[in-house]
Amino acid sequence: MTIRNIVILTGAGISAESGLATFRGPDGLWEGHRVEDVATPEAFRHDPALVHAFYDARRERLGTVEPNAAHAALALLDAEWPGELLLVTQNVDDLHERAGSKRLIHMHGELTSGWCLACDERFSWEGPMAPQTVRPEPVEGLSLSSSEMQAFDKLRPNGSVNVCPSCRAIGHVRPDIVWFGEMPYEMERIDDAIRGCDLFVSIGTSGAVYPAAGFVQIARYCGARTLEINLEPSIGSTSFDESRIGKAGELVPVWVAEVLGRNAAI
Ligand code: APR
Repeated sequence: MTIRNIVILTGAGISAESGLATFRGPDGLWEGHRVEDVATPEAFRHDPALVHAFYDARRERLGTVEPNAAHAALALLDAEWPGELLLVTQNVDDLHERAGSKRLIHMHGELTSGWCLACDERFSWEGPMAPQTVRPEPVEGLSLSSSEMQAFDKLRPNGSVNVCPSCRAIGHVRPDIVWFGEMPYEMERIDDAIRGCDLFVSIGTSGAVYPAAGFVQIARYCGARTLEINLEPSIGSTSFDESRIGKAGELVPVWVAEVLGRNAAI
């Protein structure tokens, strides 16, 4: 079978060796937080401060980690593969693009993106998003001059950092993350690519969440070869033609070398 068109699905496991927590592993994100408290639209309506705190902490952590050998190998494959290639990630971190991947879709959104519910614009976002009031409290004997207060207000109207860069609305920006119960992004493009691929590869995902967990079935149904690379067999492991069990940082460079017809690991 000649491999020409490849679709790769990644999950939290590919970023584990960079120091980012997975969701369902020991010390996973869902160990310390209840999904329904931080990853649903209802949770955001009910307690936006808690939800912002969860994503602000993850956004801050992102600034302290780097892509690993698995991200780098996939970026090289992207640069060198002559056929169709689409990297679909469930991850909201930016390690794939920081490693150089271009043909990439974030189906669950991105930590480095904000979405204004007032004007419906999306835009890149750095730093905290929680609309904390940081206006200085009056201090006995210390009064900020009106020009200082004005300068301060210009920086942070009404003390908030949560200001839409597009419509200037305050407090309406939410993390641009696909929460449970919401539709993942670019599903049509993803579905087309899976139905047209010769090889479907799943890396570092438990197969616990749909629609991503069902991609292997569609790929098989459409005649593609299927490969899983994971630390342990995933929930849908038996659906794959081949399963390679181990760390992504070690196995993905070897696999990429094979695909590119190289002898040694990338
Ligand atoms: N190398 C390869 N695989 C690894 C590694 C590693 N170094 N470390 C962990 N894994 C594997 C685990 O064995 C597990 O099967 O990665 C998988 C991570 O699974 P989850 O924590 O469930 O994460 P993921 O599959 O990405 O979750 C899917 O669920 O919570 C939602 O929206 C969230 O995108 C996420 C989706």
